[in-house]
Amino acid sequence: MSAVIGSSISRKDGYLKVTGQARYAADHPIESVAHAVAICSTIAHGRVTSIDSSEAEGAPGFLAVLHHGNAPQLFRPVNNFMTSSKPGEIRVVFEDDKVHYYGQYLAVLVAETLQQAQFAASLVKITYESAPPVMETDKAMDTVFDPAEFFGEKLAVKRGDAESALRSAEVKHEAEYFTPTEHHNPMEPCASIASWDGDELTLLETTQWVVGARNTVAETLGTAAEKVHIVSPFIGGGFGCKGFVWPHSVLSAIASKQVGRPIKLNLTRKQMFSGCGRRSETRQKISLGAQSTGKLTAIVHDTLVQTSTFDEFTESCGGINRFLYSCPHVSIAHHSVRVNIVTPTPMRAPGENPGLFAMESAMDELAYKLAIDPVELRVINHSDKNEHSNLPWSSKYLKDCYHLAAEKFGWAKRNPKPRSMRDGKYLVGWGMATATYPGMRSPGAAKVRILQDGSAVVSSATQDMGGGTYTTMAQLVSDVTGIPMERILPELGDSYMPPAPVSGGSMTTASVLPAVRQAATGALKKIVKAAIADKKSPFHGKKEDELVAANGGVFQKGSTPESGISYARVLAATNQASVEGESFAQPGKEREKYAFQSWGAQFVEVKVDPEIAKVTVSRVVSAFDVGRIINRKTAQSQAHSGIIMGVGMALMEHTVYDNRDGGIITSNLADYAVPVNADIHSIDVHFIDKPDPYIDPEIGARGVGEITVTGVAPAIANAIYHATGRRIRELPITPDKLL
Ligand code: MOS
Repeated sequence: MSAVIGSSISRKDGYLKVTGQARYAADHPIESVAHAVAICSTIAHGRVTSIDSSEAEGAPGFLAVLHHGNAPQLFRPVNNFMTSSKPGEIRVVFEDDKVHYYGQYLAVLVAETLQQAQFAASLVKITYESAPPVMETDKAMDTVFDPAEFFGEKLAVKRGDAESALRSAEVKHEAEYFTPTEHHNPMEPCASIASWDGDELTLLETTQWVVGARNTVAETLGTAAEKVHIVSPFIGGGFGCKGFVWPHSVLSAIASKQVGRPIKLNLTRKQMFSGCGRRSETRQKISLGAQSTGKLTAIVHDTLVQTSTFDEFTESCGGINRFLYSCPHVSIAHHSVRVNIVTPTPMRAPGENPGLFAMESAMDELAYKLAIDPVELRVINHSDKNEHSNLPWSSKYLKDCYHLAAEKFGWAKRNPKPRSMRDGKYLVGWGMATATYPGMRSPGAAKVRILQDGSAVVSSATQDMGGGTYTTMAQLVSDVTGIPMERILPELGDSYMPPAPVSGGSMTTASVLPAVRQAATGALKKIVKAAIADKKSPFHGKKEDELVAANGGVFQKGSTPESGISYARVLAATNQASVEGESFAQPGKEREKYAFQSWGAQFVEVKVDPEIAKVTVSRVVSAFDVGRIINRKTAQSQAHSGIIMGVGMALMEHTVYDNRDGGIITSNLADYAVPVNADIHSIDVHFIDKPDPYIDPEIGARGVGEITVTGVAPAIANAIYHATGRRIRELPITPDKLL
């Protein structure tokens, strides 16, 4: 591969973003657009007895109001994430008069201006028959059930006999861990601009999955997928809340149809806390049994989470313990209760992230009991294969991650005794944890066009929510063709383009880039053919395998590119405006032969002010094995974002509900704190950068997005224990828990 792969390349879309020219969903100027406001439930349980819009209808600028009493019929879409579409909730908006949670959409009102819509919406009177909501896990235990699956993987796992292995273990650790409800809070709230042209709908959206949004919206409206066009060129963060399709997209579509004009619907920050999922709180019991040597003999991981009263999504915390460490006796169970809160949804590393908080805290506690260094304990229990599927790893450099991060961090200088390290008045703590996330890959397609001027266009209906997809797509084309980066135009985020999977599960790079590579190769083949066919070409009549197309030109095998003719010249001579390669790439049999998993190590330094119990994460050093790095700069940027999100999870993030009426107390960014610049200090990220030989034959990249947040929260909790001697098993670790 050429030097364009793996180097640090600034984002193709960076200039547009920093100059404010990148148009996010709500930014598009649309002629004669009307404004919609969603009206949400102010109770969490019960039913609507009346919606009186008479006063609103007389308000200035009023255009329409839709609710379950007058909305067009909608249909429950196919609910299959792996193939076609997935609504955030299986219940269709306005399906009936029932209220399942606070913030549920009850009506949508349209007016000429946003202010007029907000005012008219305030005049709509909704009356309810309300029942006390069930908000807390403890109060919902009568609804407990064991969910069967998480995206096709069985949630209950038993290997060996964990209970008896635990009883006879030389050393044991048992504890319960808690993580709170969290919300994604991307900087860009969900937004949708709908417009109809006859029976064809265009939605300017902010979505992690343009193809899925097309299918889900079409099915919900009862129309064909070809009639729906989704456009989402820029995404201001998603973290999972824009992965499935939430009701606002359909609301804007039916509102636009009703008024016969384009309409714009933005979610408020408050509505982001009820309109597009959440991460459930988790209660996790972990029991570990080990020999005095540190070798794990038993792992029991029992998880209790919440789902909504009418749908199922399980935060699958125990999934990691199928294979994280080598252990003969494993027992994993998941339980779920039904509460009057919006259905949970994936949030950056669903399952792995809270699961690793519990497990990697537990491993630290076990390390102290055994008096074994926490890194050493993890090396002792390294899994050389996936003991759940019994498959070899496609590639695994976890030991290198521990070694590299430990060395860069200076771990060898650590005194393991709690409260033993100080910096002036501050207590200093060093902690670490393992990071892991699956190496997913799905089918994807792409198209590459080489134009007569020697430039290229690459397109795929994928998304760039910050991971750098625009840039990495162009890099692959540049690598194959030799066309310089600045002469390659990447296009994405449009459902008319060749289909690609959801940008979730950290699979965009592994799924889309192989298709881009093949499409570029296909376009070059056509140029070679043209050079052979051209009577005036020096290569006229040659065989295809005698020629090479690379580095910007066609030339004789064994010769240099300078001796050949440029793509532009071939196309001009043969009078072609462009040549096009299109490719559909999908994972093959290797998925049955190998287990694909990314790995990493997070090392953290905290400084704790003993007077006010304030924790500062002064240093993070991380190393990740995510296969080949395509773009060092965007990969590091993704890792920084994940680590920063992990700091928020460890110290700040916590959605608080009012258990009397189901209201959300922290429904703004003042009360739902996330890290700001002042909270973030040194972050030092390293990549092993060894290609995964099986995820695809040539590129070998497994994706960077989600693994980088995993392991951060437990590394911080472990560092806090080391600093203070206080073991906090409940996130977020706010000063009140440390005082
Ligand atoms: Mo990610 S939570 O799969 O968008």
